[in-house]
Amino acid sequence: MEKDIARVLLSQEQIQTRVEEMGRQIAWDYRGKNPAMVCILKGAVMFYTDLLRAMPIQLSMDFMAVSSYGKRTKSSGEVEIRKDLSTSIENRHVIIVEDIIDSGFTLTYLTRMLAARGAASIKVCTLLDKPSRRAPGITLKSDYSGFVVGDEFVVGYGLDYAEAYRNLPYIGVLKPEVYENN
Ligand code: IMP
Ligand code: MG
Repeated sequence: MEKDIARVLLSQEQIQTRVEEMGRQIAWDYRGKNPAMVCILKGAVMFYTDLLRAMPIQLSMDFMAVSSYGKRTKSSGEVEIRKDLSTSIENRHVIIVEDIIDSGFTLTYLTRMLAARGAASIKVCTLLDKPSRRAPGITLKSDYSGFVVGDEFVVGYGLDYAEAYRNLPYIGVLKPEVYENN
């Protein structure tokens, strides 16, 4: 695993410090609102569990899985729901927790879909944001974002390439030769 990493972008300590900061901020903003925290599987799972443990307020947990890139490193623009929420979000204050925003297609689609189900409010919380890669016409902005990253493919702390590297405890830049032949 380690041999495929060009360099460490964010260490375990950097991630932990920032995630705790974000948790405190969101908990303060949502005190008394019992937010519905929606985890986008599988990439956001590490971030989600650390974030929620840094939020000392009442909240509920639910999970959703959407189509991924498979073995590609670019989004197709099509979003497919693989696993839906198991609870209603009608009249709930929803926070979508995502690993990374790239083209913005996934979250643009999801925020519209959840808004149509009658959520009281919807905000987006992402660990990483690649604003330079937004697709034309996508105006999505995240309400809470951990780190802005450049145009590099990153893995670890939940983020994968072809389902590998999710269990790295830090976030690293994947060597381009790992994916350039796919
Ligand atoms: P979007 O719809 O293009 O914004 O894609 C967001 C999804 O693409 C994320 O949830 C990730 O699964 C995946 N993704 C985008 N960039 C990266 C990356 O650098 N590493 C790993 N996954 C990524
Ligand atoms: Mg993902």
